[in-house]
This record gives sequence, structure tokens and C-alpha cells, in this order.
Amino acid sequence: MPTLLLLPGDGIGPEVTAQVRRVAERIMPELTLETRLFGGCSFDDLGTPLTDEALALARASDAVLMGAVGGPKWATAPRHLRPEAGLLNLRSGMGVFANLRPALCFPALADASTLKREVVEGLDIMIVRELTGGVYFGQPRGVETLPDGQRRGVDTQVYTTSEIERVSRVAFELARGRRNKVTSAEKSNVMETGLLWREVVTALRARDYADVTLEHMLADNTAMQLVKNPRQFDVILTDNLFGDILSDEAAQLTGSLGMLPSAAIGVAGSPGLYEPIHGSAPDIAGQGVANPLAAILSFAMALRWSLGRADLADRLTGAVESALSGGARTRDLGGSLGSGEMGDAVLACL
Ligand code: IPM
Ligand code: MG
Repeated sequence: MPTLLLLPGDGIGPEVTAQVRRVAERIMPELTLETRLFGGCSFDDLGTPLTDEALALARASDAVLMGAVGGPKWATAPRHLRPEAGLLNLRSGMGVFANLRPALCFPALADASTLKREVVEGLDIMIVRELTGGVYFGQPRGVETLPDGQRRGVDTQVYTTSEIERVSRVAFELARGRRNKVTSAEKSNVMETGLLWREVVTALRARDYADVTLEHMLADNTAMQLVKNPRQFDVILTDNLFGDILSDEAAQLTGSLGMLPSAAIGVAGSPGLYEPIHGSAPDIAGQGVANPLAAILSFAMALRWSLGRADLADRLTGAVESALSGGARTRDLGGSLGSGEMGDAVLACL
């Protein structure tokens, strides 16, 4: 029997994953659901944001769905014990090197964007972010004190050809099933890793993906083009740091961060990690008002990419769309439904 590991985490994580549980039990009763502590709550109870046991279970599951991690409570914990460190360790421990972050403007929500309707209507971008390398993982790193008493902070941006190639492959494959265009974003004008990135992506395309249109764009320009004319993009391929930034920007284009799912995948056959893009939102945590749709849509991605049930993924996505067209809105979408009521609305449409 397939197993889904739920890692509700911190802040609004438990509230949104509770709705995923309801949907999962309805749509795929044969799925075994496990739950473990993760993030700040795991640090509080077990002394570490990610236990070995939780990581081992994640690797042995068919898919992992997390809510969110982090919050002001843990801001002063040592870096390696911070909730965010648990997430980075989970990603690298699971080997999920490609992060798929769709930015999709749901027709019913086009007016919720801070950009004009005519700019965002019909928007459908897929950001492919490298997730287990680059400056978030590179060594050396740290803060040292210099002989003159100053302090010096170091992070290292580093990529190997194989790291670039495997995530690029994912982007090209995805593009083939979409509008057949990849925009690779880096800073080859000032960074060595950027130059290598551009060379490797270009060579890979020439070798295996000559049918896919490839465009190179500097990452700062990509940030600007995203607000100027976002519909020019199909798949955006980029590194860990730029992907972190550009995916937040792209999410805002669609009107609500509360709507966007993501999938992190590794080599074929290994479990994927699914998470809503929104964070732990400590300001509204515990009030039962968080929008559970990003988490529910993340579960839909898990159905498609890890559980081999594209049919159920389509059904669930359709139910979310119907709930929205029927007027179901949580507070972030200008409505007044609570998390559980939004869950009810989706269940009613299933
Ligand atoms: C994200 C988040 C994480 C990241 C944090 C919470 C570690 O910002 O998933 O985009 O930086 O990757
Ligand atoms: Mg981020």
C-alpha cells in the first residue's frame, strides 16, 4: 500500500495539512497516512528540526507532504537547529534536486493580483528551481572574526556540471509537455557558476533537446520581465538562490500565495517532497483562517508525480477550480471562509 508522510510543521502548517488529510482519505482511501514532527515543533519536543527517524521514514515513503516550517520563536536558535535547516536537510537527504513551482493564475482569481488583469490573466509559468546545491549548501560557509576584530561572513556558490544537467533535463522534459520553451536564468555576466550554468544548459539542449526553444536571460532582468510581461515565460530554469527569489515574485503575480503548490523531485522512482509555497504565516497561525488550497494542490501534485494517480490529480484540481468558481473564498482571497470550510467546499465538489 502506498504511504504518504505528512509533516505538518509549524505555524499554519498543521491547519492546512489537516485539510489535506480529509481530502486524501476521501479520494484515495487505500493511501496509508503517517505523521511526524518536523521543524520548530520537532526542535522543541525532540531537540532537532528533523530526526533521523523522520528522515528515514521520508525516504521509505512514496511521497512526503509538508505544511510549513519556522517562525519568530526559533529565530535565535543556532543555525543548524533552526527549522529552515531541517527543511534544507530534508531536501538534501531525500535528494530532491528539482523543485517545480507552478505560478498559475486561476481564472476566478485574476482580479486578486496586484497586477492588472490583462497582464496576468491566463498566466501559466513553471519555475524549475535547483534545490539541493548552490549557495544554500556550498562550503566553506560561516562567520569568522578577523585579526583586526572585524567579522567576515562567507557563503559559497558552487555547482558541478552534473548538478546543472540533471535539473536542466527536468526543465526540458517539462517544457515538451507544455509550450516547449525554457528560459534559463543566471548571472553569467558576473558569476563563474552562472557562466558554467549557461554553457551546460546550452550543450544539453544541443545534444538532447534541440526541439525545445532555449532562451538565456540574466536573473535580474528575469525579475523585471516577470512583472512587465509574465506571459512571455513557459518554463523558467534557475539555481537555488535565484529560484527562491523568482518563485516568490511569480507567486505574487497570481494573486495569492495561499494558492500555490510545489513539488520537489529527485531521481526516477524516489519519493517526492510536496509543499505549499506559502510559509508558516505566524501572524494568522492557530486561527483556522489559513487557505488550505496550496496544500491541497500540493497533494494533487503528489498524486501525479509520486503516487501514479494522474486521474485523481485531475479530479482534485477540478474540484478546487469548481469550489473557486462557486465563490468559495478564504480571507486571503477576499472572502470569509475558514480553513475547514474551504476543505468542505472542495470535498463537496469531489
Ligand atoms: C522556500 C523557503 C525556504 C528556502 C526556506 C524556508 C528554507 O524560502 O521554500 O522558498 O529558502 O528554500
Ligand atoms: Mg522562499
